[in-house]
Amino acid sequence: MGINLSTINLYKWLGDSAAMYQLGFQDPATTSMEGIFLFNLHLLFVIISIVILVGWLLFIILRNFAESNNSNVADFTHSNHIEIIWTSIPALILLSLASPSFSLLYSLDEISFPELTLKILGHQWYWSYEISDFNSCSNSHNLKYSSYMLTDETLQKSSVGLFRVLETNKRVILPTNTHLRLLITAVDVLHSWTVPSFGVKVDACPGRLNQANLFIKRFGVFFGQCSEICGVNHGFMPIVVLAVPSVQYHYIIMTNLEFN
Ligand code: CUA
Repeated sequence: MGINLSTINLYKWLGDSAAMYQLGFQDPATTSMEGIFLFNLHLLFVIISIVILVGWLLFIILRNFAESNNSNVADFTHSNHIEIIWTSIPALILLSLASPSFSLLYSLDEISFPELTLKILGHQWYWSYEISDFNSCSNSHNLKYSSYMLTDETLQKSSVGLFRVLETNKRVILPTNTHLRLLITAVDVLHSWTVPSFGVKVDACPGRLNQANLFIKRFGVFFGQCSEICGVNHGFMPIVVLAVPSVQYHYIIMTNLEFN
């Protein structure tokens, strides 16, 4: 599993990282992130409609009922009809937001039967990973390794145009179109394992094991960063996931287990 960067760089990979001045989400690579993406669009539509409606009402009221151009003071103080309307419509809007939100929330927690478990440990300040679903003939080989950020000097030497503060010396390799289980914990302080394209952001708490499901739909290199303030080098413990088709994945795993 300790795959060298030189092997990976033989191929051209499209990196799923944030673009310069990006406003929206990164391209989704999992069904849960697609759900989050669509729900965000739904929310934006509702929010923008409300802002336009309220802004228009405010403008109309200020213009039509200014003291300078309107001397007729209305003599009513209550209107049951209006009160019913302006209470029930917001309640209906909230319902229309709650229903997709809850179904999305429950779908994120759905227990499927994972074929592979990746253990993720947060350290100050690097991540280490463990896959124990594969057995080797010898005990000296296991899929257990730490992944550290590549420093600026290393990046300059490599001349491959890697992303600054996002690249690691070893990448997590995961198969696509496979139900995966992530077990996340920390060794020292709170960290958070986050990959925006996956829609995964799970806290790594010391003494506690958090679980997340992952189903990657396409191959590629996915970048993430620790998302819980964990000390001076919080910004320097990135996550790089290389997702490959499962046949290639098993080939990589087997070659690394037996011949590393
Ligand atoms: Cu680890 Cu922030």
